[in-house]
Amino acid sequence: MRIAMIGAGYVGLVSGACFAEFGVDVTVMDVDPDKIAGLHAGRMPIYEPGLDKLVAENVRDGRLSFTTDLSEAVKGADAVFLAVGTPTRRGDGHADLTYVYAAAEQVAKAADGPLVIVTKSTVPVGTGREVQAIVRRVRPEAQISVASNPEFLREGSAIGDFMRPDRVVIGVDDEHATTVLRRLYRPLYLIETPVLAVSLETAELIKYAANAFLATKITFINEIADLCEKVGADVHDVARGMGLDGRIGRKFLHPGPGYGGSCFPKDTLALARTAQDHGAPIRLVETTIAVNEARKAQMADRILAALGDGPAGKRVAVLGVTFKPETDDMRDAPSLVILPKLVAAGVHVVAFDPQPAHARQALPAAVEFAGSAMAAVQGADALVVLTEWNEFRALPPDRLKSAMKGGIVLDLRNVWDPAAMRAAGFTYSSIGRP
Ligand code: NAD
Ligand code: UDX
Repeated sequence: MRIAMIGAGYVGLVSGACFAEFGVDVTVMDVDPDKIAGLHAGRMPIYEPGLDKLVAENVRDGRLSFTTDLSEAVKGADAVFLAVGTPTRRGDGHADLTYVYAAAEQVAKAADGPLVIVTKSTVPVGTGREVQAIVRRVRPEAQISVASNPEFLREGSAIGDFMRPDRVVIGVDDEHATTVLRRLYRPLYLIETPVLAVSLETAELIKYAANAFLATKITFINEIADLCEKVGADVHDVARGMGLDGRIGRKFLHPGPGYGGSCFPKDTLALARTAQDHGAPIRLVETTIAVNEARKAQMADRILAALGDGPAGKRVAVLGVTFKPETDDMRDAPSLVILPKLVAAGVHVVAFDPQPAHARQALPAAVEFAGSAMAAVQGADALVVLTEWNEFRALPPDRLKSAMKGGIVLDLRNVWDPAAMRAAGFTYSSIGRP
């Protein structure tokens, strides 16, 4: 089998490398010459654990290559996956489909034989039909099928998620596309992964419904955490007690400063807009979006309140600024809302993140970056944890306390044991714990 992956981002690069590992001949194509030149030189454009090794091995074995030349990528391919971005469109909250439609048109024009165009990007219901219309318009004579194959991987555990998914969803319209996609995913049949073959519309909606449900689950536990703080209950025990009910499940019940990332914020918004347009508004999702937005600002207020009457000039160490651990992705990270508010109040913010590649340019210039967690906390009046990188869990409370000037800790990811932090002399607060 031979495929092309259009887009060498978090999804395209990981999916391309994983398909190559499955034994497929993969060409990853991107319009960004720097990304492709870097990949030719063995440099990953993103941080994703294990990706550099997986890419290097498959390049070495001749199954994975990179190009900026679309025709070269599409030539002889059985399927071409579109893994380009679908960011929020300015002004109305819908998904911006410019990149998807442009890529679909270019691929259709370059097709040199029977081909399946597979949308892996997260796209609103109806997009697959529009891609079919584009294909018919530019290449009415060509044998081109259109399919949907939404991706459910998480950043930070992307390779494991791709290789061992809970399910594979394929939205198909014809036998040929079904056969090609089932062959590509054959290694997953060995581990008995359910493969759902559904219509284009259903596949597109499954992806948004899943993301919106997870975002709502997180938002629910965040609000329960707020109530826990008022009544002296422990949100982790509440989550465990709820989650042990098989109908609820234990995952995605970890409270925090609000969900972020490249998917949940934009996908909940796009789903809400689509539903409104069809006269079937999903009020639960609209509320989730509003509650999550407000939460990020409330976290900044919480930090400022903890600093007391004069936050201006105080030094606050912030550990972790990416939207989650094990990624360098800053898209819609809670830090993008929280840190500017601290800076605006005159706070001297000293941040540390293990993967700061995109952090400096995403955050206000006034944010100082330290080279280690201990360097960030040196002389700080207060310490805030925004992302639960594992290395922060291991920091000894006594060492932190002696390095800091003040004793305020706001642990917005609940990485530390409250009793141990209080024993070290901290005024410690976390999310939803007494
Ligand atoms: P990304 O921004 O990291 O990568 C997109 C890439 O596409 C960029 O490198 C860009 O240069 C390239 N591109 C744009 N137009 C192109 C064209 N015409 N031809 C070739 N390359 C082109 O995006 P991402 O995070 O990988 O997300 C891609 C899609 O996958 C989105 O729809 C997203 O919602 C979805 N998704 C993302 C994740 C995730 O964790 N990031 C998970 C599941 C699904
Ligand atoms: C998400 C989906 O999980 C994945 O299936 C989809 O393909 C892309 O979007 P990702 O954004 O990479 O993946 O990470 P995820 O682990 O889902 O976390 C998203 C946000 O929710 C992060 O900000 C994270 O900190 C937050 N989160 C997650 C919580 O606050 N609590 C939780 O219990 C889980």
